[in-house]
Amino acid sequence: MNFDSMRTVTQFAALAPSVHNTQPWQFVVNGHSLEVRADASRALRQLDPAARQLHISCGAAVEFARLGVRSLGYSCIVRLAPRADDPLLLATLTIGHRHPASPEERRLIEAIPRRYTDRGPYDTDIPVSDSLLARLRDAANERGCWLRVLDRPGDRLTAATLLYEAESAEMADQSVFDELARWRRDEGSEDGIPDSALGEPHPAGVVTDLPLRDFTGQNRHPQPGGDGPPPQVERDTIVLLGSDSDDPHSWLRSGRALGHLLLVLTDAGLVSQPLGPVTDIPATRIRLQRELGLLGHPQLMLRLGYGHGRPRSGRRDVDKFLTVAALP
Ligand SMILES: Cc1cc2nc3c(=O)[nH]c(=O)nc-3n(C[C@H](O)[C@H](O)[C@H](O)COP(=O)(O)O)c2cc1C
Repeated sequence: MNFDSMRTVTQFAALAPSVHNTQPWQFVVNGHSLEVRADASRALRQLDPAARQLHISCGAAVEFARLGVRSLGYSCIVRLAPRADDPLLLATLTIGHRHPASPEERRLIEAIPRRYTDRGPYDTDIPVSDSLLARLRDAANERGCWLRVLDRPGDRLTAATLLYEAESAEMADQSVFDELARWRRDEGSEDGIPDSALGEPHPAGVVTDLPLRDFTGQNRHPQPGGDGPPPQVERDTIVLLGSDSDDPHSWLRSGRALGHLLLVLTDAGLVSQPLGPVTDIPATRIRLQRELGLLGHPQLMLRLGYGHGRPRSGRRDVDKFLTVAALP
């Protein structure tokens, strides 16, 4: 594989989701390997001091890069966190022999440019099928993680309560608020969150039963009220992605699982939005774990459904984060 091919692979990787669209990665071509490194200058020091979400974001980019290699018809071996003495080196992808992508891989590869975070209303009259939920579970399991559908009595109340509490706590913290504001962007920007990525507003007569992150930092959510008829309540399908352990390696695995399951979802015509606040704050994560009776560690909660389509967020040009240590 030559340098241009490595560049193509990196273009696939850059389409991965990342917290606040920080794109906290760097890629280094090192002979027949592509190294994925954390870009600490893009870390969210207030929201994500342990860099857990940075690792999840980069894990998703690793998964997209792997599929990028497969799209070019080569085998690819991924090693996560390969060197204990170099914690910023998050993964190496070693390109192997020629090996065409399978039809299933082709479908996931084609889904990469179509995937996006949909923060608008979803059509909840179309249920998410059990067979798709089973495929999403398998996608998480294949990457060493688990996926739980929050459909037991009490699950939604737990999720809603903790989401409200977490977002209120974050917005009361001036440093978190300021950091969020720093990643809000004008239209056409190469990173961060522009207004157009916030999704179409929910119609006046519709509220969600779970608060979605308010990127204006006001903790404002559609509310029922006034003298009109009772609002229609949108109850999206909610899933929780988690891992058995809780360290940088598990966060990277969770990111790969996230990347994989988002592509399965996109291929099936669905959209999603992470409900990040519920796992942002360590104490809330522990409460979520206890109140849902989980043995493992929650990593990211998502709402799923059928959306209405929105423009995608921007991405930096690959030449800003791809360097060469040794040509292939
Ligand atoms: C770890 C992680 C946490 C995220 N948390 C949220 C969130 O709380 N709310 C939200 O709307 N989007 C969240 N996102 C989605 C990112 O904001 C989104 O991926 C990024 O803005 C790029 O946009 P795109 O997914 O449309 O390409 C999260 C993504 C990751 C990887």
